[in-house]
Amino acid sequence: MGLKEQIDLTKLPQHIAIIMDGNGRWAKQHGQQRVFGHRNGVTAVRESAEAAAELGIPFLTVYAFSTENWNRPKVEVNALMKLLLQTIENELTTLNKNNIRLNAIGDLGSLPKENQKKLQKVMDDTRHNSRMTLTLALSYSGRWDLVEAARALARKVAQGECRPEDVDADLLNSLLSTSEMPDPELLIRTSGEYRISNFLLWQIAYAELYFTLTLWPDFRRDDLYAAIIDYQHRERRFGKTSDQIKK
Ligand code: FPP
Repeated sequence: MGLKEQIDLTKLPQHIAIIMDGNGRWAKQHGQQRVFGHRNGVTAVRESAEAAAELGIPFLTVYAFSTENWNRPKVEVNALMKLLLQTIENELTTLNKNNIRLNAIGDLGSLPKENQKKLQKVMDDTRHNSRMTLTLALSYSGRWDLVEAARALARKVAQGECRPEDVDADLLNSLLSTSEMPDPELLIRTSGEYRISNFLLWQIAYAELYFTLTLWPDFRRDDLYAAIIDYQHRERRFGKTSDQIKK
């Protein structure tokens, strides 16, 4: 039996988040520059998105560029921005063919103007697609998201729209960039690093974490299936006891 057949379609995570890591090391292993790794990482994004959509997973979010990634050498930042631009342009047909909506979260205003324009166009052109939402986290960090929400809350209080004692988890959640999505139930990180690296800090409160040694450019459908199977074998307790869950 293949890995895909081992997946219980009635217990799919509704939202998978991925920290795509290891592009640089993969390029080095192939005797190439880092950008070669990023370029090959696009295939892994495509494979993951198609596999998730085919299974019926409604939300997939990938960490494509972090707030901290701006500190990389300028040539690499520029190459990543160019790759992003080309990719969203090239993938529009595939997104529509697969009925996938493209979404983006992060400080999008800090991206090059042409990236912003292209991103907006592809988001507009795919907004009616309903099988899955693929969210690119771009110039994103979990702390950035929380600071933005805190600012919006402070503004609401200052304008008399709500009182400090009205602030609760639901209200804060509604002001995050992910307010339209359920929290990720499965977070995958590739390349054998065991960190969250400022990704979806609030949203992963109860996510199952899955780490694999596979470097991102090598990640294929079977790697996604393996992560989902692992997730399905875990007992999610949300603070309760094992006995309470089994009842
Ligand atoms: C991490 O590997 C990867 C990134 C910072 C960029 C991710 C980008 C892509 C997969 C390609 C473009 C994606 C889209 C959605 C168009 P790393 O460079 O940190 O690798 P290393 O840790 O081995 O150096």
